[in-house]
Amino acid sequence: MCGIVGYVGPRAATPIILEGLQQLEYRGYDSAGLAVIEVNGNIAVRRDAGKLGNLRERVAEAPLKGTIGMGHTRWATHGPPTAYNAHPHRDHSGQIVVVQNGIVENFLALRNELIGQGYEFSSDTDTEVIVQLVSREFDRAEDMTEAVRRAMNLLHGPSAVVVLSTHEPDKLIVARLGNAGGVVVGHGQGEMFVASDIPAILEHTRTMSFLENREMAVIRQGGVEYFDLKGRPIPPKELHAIPWDPISAARGQYRHFMQKEIFEQPNSLTDTLRGRIDFATGQVALSDLNLDQAAVMSLDKVVIVACGTSYYSGLVGKYLIENLARLPVEVDYGSEYRYRNPILDERTLVLAITQSGETVDTLAALEEARKYNARTAAIVNAVGSQAARVSDGVIYMQAGPEIGVASTKAYTSSITDQLLLAMYLGQQRGVLDAETSLALATELALLPEKVGEALAQDEHLQELAQKYANYHNFLYLGRGIHYATAREGALKLKEISYIHAEGYPAGEMKHGPIALIDENMPTVAVALRDRLYDKMISQVEQVKARNGKVIALVNPGDEVVAAKADDLIVIPQAVEWLAPIIAVIPLQLLAYHIAVWRGSDVDQPRNLAKSVTVE
Ligand code: AGP
Repeated sequence: MCGIVGYVGPRAATPIILEGLQQLEYRGYDSAGLAVIEVNGNIAVRRDAGKLGNLRERVAEAPLKGTIGMGHTRWATHGPPTAYNAHPHRDHSGQIVVVQNGIVENFLALRNELIGQGYEFSSDTDTEVIVQLVSREFDRAEDMTEAVRRAMNLLHGPSAVVVLSTHEPDKLIVARLGNAGGVVVGHGQGEMFVASDIPAILEHTRTMSFLENREMAVIRQGGVEYFDLKGRPIPPKELHAIPWDPISAARGQYRHFMQKEIFEQPNSLTDTLRGRIDFATGQVALSDLNLDQAAVMSLDKVVIVACGTSYYSGLVGKYLIENLARLPVEVDYGSEYRYRNPILDERTLVLAITQSGETVDTLAALEEARKYNARTAAIVNAVGSQAARVSDGVIYMQAGPEIGVASTKAYTSSITDQLLLAMYLGQQRGVLDAETSLALATELALLPEKVGEALAQDEHLQELAQKYANYHNFLYLGRGIHYATAREGALKLKEISYIHAEGYPAGEMKHGPIALIDENMPTVAVALRDRLYDKMISQVEQVKARNGKVIALVNPGDEVVAAKADDLIVIPQAVEWLAPIIAVIPLQLLAYHIAVWRGSDVDQPRNLAKSVTVE
């Protein structure tokens, strides 16, 4: 959470920082601020509560002129989202400013210590503790780099910080402690950048390096030097060429990023498949997975760890891997895994699924896996992110940047990646025959087109949205592989429209939620023609018998469910293993249109952030 962007070079820093913050606003939008060293040598700071637009107004009223600076968008942890809690925070002398992403877990003790030493505080934030510590250490140290290093060593908990100071006005000092989300250093022509995430600086450079835990970077116009938090220089970091182009990170003709990302799915899925499967044979190759046949044969279990939408994708993955590779699979929340004393060893593959690659709970689960010498792999969208770097192997989603806070195309790409993984494991283990592989490859080749057909329901879904937008509660039911579809559909609705929605395994409805059913609680039932179709018909009957309204997701030509449901959403028939990818599309659109109808802020729903980098 929180977004940071910094610039040092020959150009005016303010517009670069504001544009960068715009790209990072999905990480937090409680307040925003920036600081620039102006030509007179002083630090100028502008901050405001609320979205970036408010900060832009402050900057328009009182412009800042300088070629080095940094900015921040906040997702509040300590203190309410007010202007005085907005970053950057200054030290008592006004000569040092700090922006931070993360949490200082020992901030109370440090704050009390500093107050005891005469330091005064003007915010409720833990960040202000950092800037006062840097200031105090600067009085004791030789230079700013050393002062920042000393301050960082006093902090507990994950933090990524950038420090700017009039004492040494030619540099940004960046430090990273723990899993506080990424720190990306951008290498331009005679200019340098730093950011929490790639899209913030993609317009200016695609050459980037990544700061690891307990590392610092001193960034000047001409380049960067790296140190560890013990003060020892470390060698220059590998430069990564980032393939995303800035155009694909723009909203284009669409009203919202979420809408754009929903409609991108035929293309993003084509990209996910590209280069991984031979459509003539069905053979799968996953070059970055680092799991050869001997390693595959040594596995006796897979554990999927993930959060939110990525967790629901893992629920689908369990079906895919168990059925196609015949390996047992557990799925757990990243936030729970490390607290349950898990049973795993070197014969376990721990698979993290994470769009951002920076979700702190998922990273912690990976860390737990490493303690037990388990093999690790990550399905990740953000190239070069932490999860990709710390895992033994990676399968990239190749879905392109996902900006909307509500995840859409990453869900379908991560399921596709898991299908490829399941096929790969099945093929290496000799349990997936050539005929089934080829049949799946043929289905996969048709997938983007079928997703396109599901998207063609858009107008109908707008009408449904209008009809159902004023209900306060929804139930989503699915069985088997579509239990995950129900969970994901419900999550989409609640996170952007703020309507309470529950995704439930349809067979469990009679064990409790059925008590909720009446004419005021619509049920979205995933009733596709698969192994459990007949069971789903009974569930629909049970809802109707209690005056519930049913919106049913069906395949073409379905007359049985059509006769019972109040409304139908028709999607193309597909083999069971691919059906969740198609079935979720209308649920994404339904949630989207209901949210638009209700006037919600679709791309930046309240209280949420795209990358959850706090525990
Ligand atoms: C999805 O719409 C959410 N906003 C959220 O649940 C998200 O999927 C979760 O935070 C995990 O993120 P990750 O995939 O980047 O790890």
